Formats: sequence, structure tokens, C-alpha cells
Amino acid sequence: MAQHRRGDRAVLRVLSGEPVFPPPAWVMRQAGRYLPEYREVRATAGSFLDLCYTPDFAVEVTLQPIRRFGFDAAILFSDILVVPDALGQNVRFVEGEGPRLDPIAGRAEFSALRQVDDPAIFEHLKPVFETVSRLRAELPSETTLLGFCGAPWTVASYMIGGRGTQDLAPARALAKNDTSLVDELIDRLVTVQTEYLIRQLRAGADAVQIFESHAGTLPDTDPDALSRWSFQPIARMIAGVRAHVPDAKIIVFARGSGLDGHARVVDETGASAVGVDWAVDLAELRRRIPDTVVTQGNVHPDTLIEGGAALDAAVDAVRDAVEGKPHIFNLGHGITPQTPVAHVEQMLARLRR
Ligand code: CP3
Repeated sequence: MAQHRRGDRAVLRVLSGEPVFPPPAWVMRQAGRYLPEYREVRATAGSFLDLCYTPDFAVEVTLQPIRRFGFDAAILFSDILVVPDALGQNVRFVEGEGPRLDPIAGRAEFSALRQVDDPAIFEHLKPVFETVSRLRAELPSETTLLGFCGAPWTVASYMIGGRGTQDLAPARALAKNDTSLVDELIDRLVTVQTEYLIRQLRAGADAVQIFESHAGTLPDTDPDALSRWSFQPIARMIAGVRAHVPDAKIIVFARGSGLDGHARVVDETGASAVGVDWAVDLAELRRRIPDTVVTQGNVHPDTLIEGGAALDAAVDAVRDAVEGKPHIFNLGHGITPQTPVAHVEQMLARLRR
């Protein structure tokens, strides 16, 4: 039944600045291991990257949470690390540990990456665009289809560190010692990923999200670091996308950038919306920014695991903070594998009551 959906592509309407209440909802990492039907497909797909690059599988797991919960947006099933993979870096996902890349430790490894005009890059990513087209054809028309990529700093951090080390110290060290190499890596990611987003939009994505999941690892001793390494490269991507797809709707999730950082995202990058992490007080952020700024978020994934009265209170707090303002309901980071499915149902029922 479609009655629990907000209808009329509510997510796109909010991204155009229209307040919709209660807000439309989706959840970061909504296709994933907390769903038994995902685990089933994942087991037959082989490796995680095989799952990402096989449209039959990727379409199916993208649709699973839409069928089960009627989310207002579907997000393409893929990963931010398919881009380093397409650039020729060795990327693999180790069961129970996460991503592993052969680190870019210096010039030698950087020189081995594909150049921006190498046709092999987008040849490699072709299955992703096929997945997007098929999804747009199969999804209900009221469901917004989101494409995505990682922000240059976040992707560069994985490429340099080789893994999600706790504070991504290798990337910070390189950013301090060989600034020009990091600049060049970020430039390459800006160019390639601008084109990557354009191609997703042309294949059928209604909007895209840029994941800056590691904004919090930028050196906090340098007040300009957030602008220089995060917001400016993102701004260049957004301008580049809009040069080809005018009015493209783009959400920037700037996890770890703090209340100040979140308040600056839309202004400094030209994003259509700021994705708010769980560490930020949403009500306070909403008071600090103009009513016209579009926000998204930000229930703590641990509160979703907890459920019960705590979850109801967290949902109510978001509702209260955003009534009359353009907002898309979401978590403040990705849903985790141990989340009970019933709690997702509880959250949506509370939101839509
Ligand atoms: O949101 C969705 O449902 C769409 C799919 C999606 C995945 N990764 C699938 C995935 C998206 C949008 C991402 C983005 C992503 N990938 C980010 C940014 C968002 C964030 O969480 O901060 C980052 C940092 C990555 C890199 C990455 N991929 C890590 C660190 C891991 C390991 C952690 C983990 O949860 O296992 C992955 C693997 C991954 N990406 C899984 C999924 C469903 C789990 C792999 C599996 O099923 O075995």
C-alpha cells in the first residue's frame, strides 16, 4: 500500500525548498545487513564488489527497503570506493573488517592511477549506470531515486590510508607533508566524480548525495582546513555538475564538521541541502540557519537500535525542530547491522502519525 508514502516525490519537493510535514524519510545504508533479504542476496552474489557491479543484484537490494518500508527515497546500491577501484587502485572488502586498499603512500602509487581522460574509468562503472536506469524504471514514480559518491577528502583518505583507520592519520600526515600530492589527488577525484554524478543523473537519478563522512578528521588546528580540503572541492564538483545538469539537486552530508561546519555547508558549497550528523543539535542548527535552508537527518543510529520510548522521543524531537521548514527525515549516520527491523517500522509510524 502506498498510503504511508508522502506522495508526489516529496523528497524532490523538499529539495526545491518546500516544507512538507511530516517530512519524507529515507535512511542512510537502508539496503544492508540488518535486512534478512539483503543477507540472502549478499550470500549468493559472491564478493561485495560483485554485488555492486551486477545490476540484477544491485537493483534487487536497492528495492528491498522500499518494498518493506515504503521509504520516500531509494539510494543506489553501490559504494563510495568503486571510484578508487575504477581508477585502478586495488580495492577489496574483507569480511567483518571493512574496506582494504593498497595505499597511495607517495608519487609512485599516485602515478599508477588512471588519468582522468582514460575511457577505462567509466567503462568500469558502466554497470552502475545500468543499475540506475533500471531502478528509475522499476521504482514507483513517487519514490525519489538518489545517486551518490564520496566527497574528495573522504575518498582520498581511504586511498591514502588504505583503510578506515580510526582518525585517518595517514591522510592527515600526507596533507601536512606533501600538500601538492594531496591537492592533485583531490583534483583528480573532483574531475572524475563530477562526471560520475552527471552520468548518474543522466541515467535516471533524481538527485545525488555527496558523502563527506570524514570531515571530522580534518586538522582542527587549522581553521581553514574544512574549507580548503572539504567544502571547496565539493563546491567545484557541484558547480561542475550544474554546468551540465542545471538545477541538479545535491545533498552534502558533512559528518563530523560540527555545528559551525554544518551551518556553513550550503553557503560554501552551493548544495541543495545539508545532511546533519547525529552529533549536532538539530533544533539549534535550525535556529542558526535561514528557514529556507534544507536539512536532512539526524536520529542517532544507536537510538534506533534501542527503540522504545527513547526512539519515539528522538523522532518527536526531529519533528518539533523542523515543522514548517524544509527537511528530509533520516538518521545521523548509516543504519547498523544489529538494528531490529521492527524499530525501523516503529520509527516510521511515529514520524508519520
Ligand atoms: O545507503 C545505502 O543503502 C546505499 C549503499 C551504500 C553503501 N555504502 C553500501 C555498503 C552507500 C551510500 C555507502 C557509502 C559509503 N561507503 C560511505 C559513506 C557513508 C558512511 O557510512 O559514512 C563509506 C565511508 C563507505 C566505505 C565503506 N563501505 C565502509 C567503511 C564499509 C565497511 C563498513 C561496513 O558497514 O561493513 C563498506 C561496506 C559496505 N558498503 C556495506 C554496505 C551495505 C557492508 C558490506 C557487506 O554487506 O558485506
